[in-house]
Amino acid sequence: MTAGRVEIAASILNADLGALREAVLAAESAGVDRIHLDIMDGQFVPNLTFGLATVEVLRAATALPFDAHLMMLSPGRWATRFVEAGCESVAIHVEAPDQHRQILDAIRDSGGRAGVALDPETPIEALAPFRSQLDFVLVMTVKSGFGGQAYRPEAASRIAAIRDVVGNADGDSLRVHVDGGINAGTAPHATGHGANLLVVGSALFSGGNPAQMAEAVRVIRESTSP
Ligand code: DX5
Ligand code: ZN
Repeated sequence: MTAGRVEIAASILNADLGALREAVLAAESAGVDRIHLDIMDGQFVPNLTFGLATVEVLRAATALPFDAHLMMLSPGRWATRFVEAGCESVAIHVEAPDQHRQILDAIRDSGGRAGVALDPETPIEALAPFRSQLDFVLVMTVKSGFGGQAYRPEAASRIAAIRDVVGNADGDSLRVHVDGGINAGTAPHATGHGANLLVVGSALFSGGNPAQMAEAVRVIRESTSP
């Protein structure tokens, strides 16, 4: 994880689900820093994606760090299993009716980095109880559940307030990931409001070929470099 440089994590949700290994390798060749894995249970969000078995196959295909984004009603049953499957970080949703404090501790105890995801409509005060247990916050700039949605700037505009609510004494040590609708046009707004990591899905995979993916990564990096 690099301190000042904005990291790009490829979300494979909108990749060709019949060729995920190839999608991961293409994203790696295009120059992304990480792979973002959207795990959906069909209950917390009205969508179903993939699970541990898929993550384990992809884990064997690349050395890139994996970040699991659990959109699940009961993340407690799964969170540490995704760390064991090779995810460097796991984010659980603050809106899920589960034992967040225990889960965040369990993620860290199993060697992972613990994060909480926040949908755009959820008040940032919901994060306050976990301030001492977070390595990062995953700020959703779309309603979680689907790729290809439009970026919601007001969600990213809350990052400074999130740092006040959740960050440590200096507020800046908290890493903030932004997820949803990120492309070359919206990335500067997100990083301008303090995002350290950008999750990019359809902007990478909609072009359908490696050259376009590499260009998308290049343009996003260029648009967010100081
Ligand atoms: C949505 C997922 C996001 C999404 C990002 O619930 O958490 O990671 O796939 O995809 P785009 O970049 O298409 O919004
Ligand atoms: Zn996600």
